[in-house]
Amino acid sequence: MIILPNYLSANFALITISVCQKILESAGVVEINARNLRFVDPFGMAMLGACLDEAKKQEYAIRVYELSPDLSGYLQRMNVITGIELVDCSQTMGTRRDRSDTLVELTRICNLSQVGDVSYSLAKAMAGVADHNEAPDEMTGYTACDRLMEPLQYALNELLENALTHARSGNTNARVWVASQYYPKKDLIRLAVVDNGCGFLESLKTHVKLRHQRHLEAILLALQPRISCNRDLGLRDDSVNQGVGLTTSCRISEHAGGRMILASGNAMHSTSGYSGESSEGYWQGVGIAMEVNRSRLSDIRVGGLLPALDDIPAVKLRFE
Ligand SMILES: Nc1ncnc2c1ncn2[C@@H]1O[C@H](COP(=O)(O)OP(=O)(O)OP(=O)(O)O)[C@@H](O)[C@H]1O
Ligand SMILES: [Mg+2]
Repeated sequence: MIILPNYLSANFALITISVCQKILESAGVVEINARNLRFVDPFGMAMLGACLDEAKKQEYAIRVYELSPDLSGYLQRMNVITGIELVDCSQTMGTRRDRSDTLVELTRICNLSQVGDVSYSLAKAMAGVADHNEAPDEMTGYTACDRLMEPLQYALNELLENALTHARSGNTNARVWVASQYYPKKDLIRLAVVDNGCGFLESLKTHVKLRHQRHLEAILLALQPRISCNRDLGLRDDSVNQGVGLTTSCRISEHAGGRMILASGNAMHSTSGYSGESSEGYWQGVGIAMEVNRSRLSDIRVGGLLPALDDIPAVKLRFE
């Protein structure tokens, strides 16, 4: 029996990953006790959802025991435990109130062609924009809701695109899960993008700037401007990728009073705190949690956060 901890969340990323690893290692039957579970954030939902999806794909029997009525209602609402047998759980599903302005259910994405639409609808929901008839600003041509949506849409687009391209090198079946929720009391939008692909280290293992073959180092390298597994292969202008998506998304979360947490392999890095490697948890792929203050989104101009063209970590030139 796998015992879930109190929290499945970005704040407890390593604990969340270690329990997810146990679910993935189960064979035939997955039995989970949720007696202690108190709180699940989008990172926890995307991670748990990814593992339950994989177990479902293998046609394992999955049983969740003693889930509290509140969480049972919430996780069903978020599509995390759809089709899963609940044992000793009192159900309080109730009516499905439309909360499309505060949460986005766990969504699995398999095609690159879905990225634009998904990023748009997630950004719209999380920015809480309802008024589409608003007149644009005469100077800029932007409406206030465009301003709120732009940074979120950019970041989601970049994270999802990474997860459906880089993550798939060597494993074309890798999939992506995304979930988000707005927490009004803290004015905080939390979103998570989780993939089960190759991970940062595998993607950057031959990059000249990677000094040690370690997951933490690969995460930190990927966050630097103009670092890409593609760009140093050719001339700058020919490059498929510019190595700016992750850096800019990270800058967006920090400028909006939030943070980014990245987990891959045995490592995790938080832009506001702990960074390290663990012997207890391992995630095959990349899990990213992003937090932003909703009210600060309108001050952000994505263009101003993009790394400049010469914002390139020095590479030694050799003339031989
Ligand atoms: N989900 C992922 N799985 C594996 N590797 C990743 C993932 N996301 C990013 N990376 C690695 O980190 C590098 C940096 O990512 P980033 O988004 O900043 O740049 P890019 O995607 O290469 O270029 P751009 O975003 O400008 O098109 C990528 O080139 C890739 O090597
Ligand atoms: Mg990218």
